[in-house]
Amino acid sequence: MRSHFCGLIDESLIDQNVTLCGWVNTLRLQSHVAFVDLRDHEGIAQVVIERENTDAFAVAGELGYEYCIRVTGQVRKRLAANDKLKTGTVELIADKVEILNAARDLPFALHETPNEDMRMTYRYLDLRRPEMQQMMRTRTKLVRELRRYLDTAGFQDIETPILTKATPEGARDYLVPSRVHPGQFYALPQSPQLFKQILMMAGFDRYYQIARCFRDEDLRADRQPEFTQLDLEFAFVEERDVQDFVENLIRHVFREVRNVELDASFPRMTYEEAMRRFGSDKPDLRIPLELTDIAEAVKHVEFKVFSGPANDPAGRVAALRVPGAAELSRKDIDGLTEYAGKYGAKGLAWLKVDDLAKGREGINSPVAKFLDDSALAQVLALTGAATGDIVFFGAGSWKTVTDFMGALRIKLGRDRGMVQNAWKPLWVTDFPMFEYDAEEQRYVALHHPFTAPKVDDIADLRANAAISVSRGYDMVLNGAEIGGGSIRIHRPDMQSAVFELLGIGADEAEAKFGFLLKALRMGAPPHGGLAFGIDRIAALMAGTESIRDVIAFPKTTSAQDLMTDAPSSVSEPQLKELHVRVAVEPKA
Ligand code: AMO
Ligand code: AMP
Repeated sequence: MRSHFCGLIDESLIDQNVTLCGWVNTLRLQSHVAFVDLRDHEGIAQVVIERENTDAFAVAGELGYEYCIRVTGQVRKRLAANDKLKTGTVELIADKVEILNAARDLPFALHETPNEDMRMTYRYLDLRRPEMQQMMRTRTKLVRELRRYLDTAGFQDIETPILTKATPEGARDYLVPSRVHPGQFYALPQSPQLFKQILMMAGFDRYYQIARCFRDEDLRADRQPEFTQLDLEFAFVEERDVQDFVENLIRHVFREVRNVELDASFPRMTYEEAMRRFGSDKPDLRIPLELTDIAEAVKHVEFKVFSGPANDPAGRVAALRVPGAAELSRKDIDGLTEYAGKYGAKGLAWLKVDDLAKGREGINSPVAKFLDDSALAQVLALTGAATGDIVFFGAGSWKTVTDFMGALRIKLGRDRGMVQNAWKPLWVTDFPMFEYDAEEQRYVALHHPFTAPKVDDIADLRANAAISVSRGYDMVLNGAEIGGGSIRIHRPDMQSAVFELLGIGADEAEAKFGFLLKALRMGAPPHGGLAFGIDRIAALMAGTESIRDVIAFPKTTSAQDLMTDAPSSVSEPQLKELHVRVAVEPKA
């Protein structure tokens, strides 16, 4: 149908006849000549249709944007080269122009970025835009390089079921009713976690899968209800074996896809350190701002907002010094206070250092009067505040302060243009095994219930559950959690003990995970692994904030597919067949 791609014609083809197919990107009709910028997935070529060619010129008169056409003609050197185009030194003098398909009633022009709903409804047009084509290509390259590396390293690519039993990763399950087993349901996998562990028990040694995962959870820019993992598992390994291997893998794909050389060895940080210094378990190390704990300096002050949490073991008083930001206005500070409020802050105290040499006189702060000379001096010393700086303070429960001060750090870093243009990967390790869920009044697993604790001794784990540390690890890049994994529990007694600590009784454990417990009793090897979020890595590589830009057909933030209009109601006979009765009136 065609001899060349539009975006690839060049001077080597001058005087040759070629046939191109593509879409009308732009169209300029003049009295004696028509110019069409013809676009395909490789790029754009200029087509010239001269009036002397009466048939072709007549067709040109019928064309419109996004018409799909075929053009045959001769390649010619362009009189005035267009250096914005890869093909800018040549053009095609049309001999024959055919309309393959018209394009009518376009809802938006492709050179504009339409609103999100439009983009999702007319995704085929949105994806035609060159920047989307580029981003999807980045994803393709990423997946290709991941596979290439793993295939060479002897990993076996094994598929695991989509219709399965719940695999808990902390989200709600998507359920599928069974027709042949009335009243019973499959769950879509939140990850292949249990299957990949079973594969290690089945003797496969090293597994990978580009796996679709399904999680019914609140969506954000970096979360989709169905997303893709690079899922990995290794038998007979410890933390460092997995980490070193996948670090090399990530270095490989960044080198091949982006031509970026990442650090020779990724820094490591414990969860505790990450939360303390950056207020996040996925710290963005491109932002040169850090939290400072100042509880010791304000324990004795009258100001209860500070001294209360400073004296409470579950409290925190943290400061964030922002160099050179004393110029922030009251309005700016009010805005930041409101922002911190969204993360639970009840207030946001601050202190501007107008002139450090002047002591108290040189400080401008609504809370300085609550700090005696010793407290003020210590706060200044601990934060290293200098003339021209502002220091923000957060006080309250450890979790709330850490969250809102961490969020404030990111916001200030971004708003003030302090985000370095760099790639900053790191490992976060030593996560707590359990997190107390106040709503459910029980422990939940911080990773998943199959993550091994650092201690081998079950009695020790039981006695110190609240402070126990896991063998889990996350890979973080520029503030995004791109991968997470752990060394797994491979002893049935330890797995049962962890279930028990999570409030999963012996009967429930048997019903839900009996197959795992049984397999663990039949010679399960020590094993561990990790899963990367492919959408997140692709988004980082493509330089976009939203993973929707690197997923061909993503869902909206309300989990809808606007193009196909899913989810949608189904017919009564279909429901009946599935033994399902709907308790709400379906939406019209
Ligand atoms: P985890 O739940 O941390 O671990 O998931 C691994 C990685 O998958 C990505 N990710 C997501 N990406 C897009 N949308 C989502 N809703 C979403 N949720 C997670 C993240 C994350 O780091 N079975 C374990 C892995 C293991 O232990 O080996 C698991 O699924 O980048
Ligand atoms: P108040 O005593 O509530 O009027 O607060 C005095 C100052 O402390 C104000 O600048 C508040 O923004 C600030 N503040 C109040 N609560 C907190 C808190 N939990 N953390 C940090 N600053 C706070």
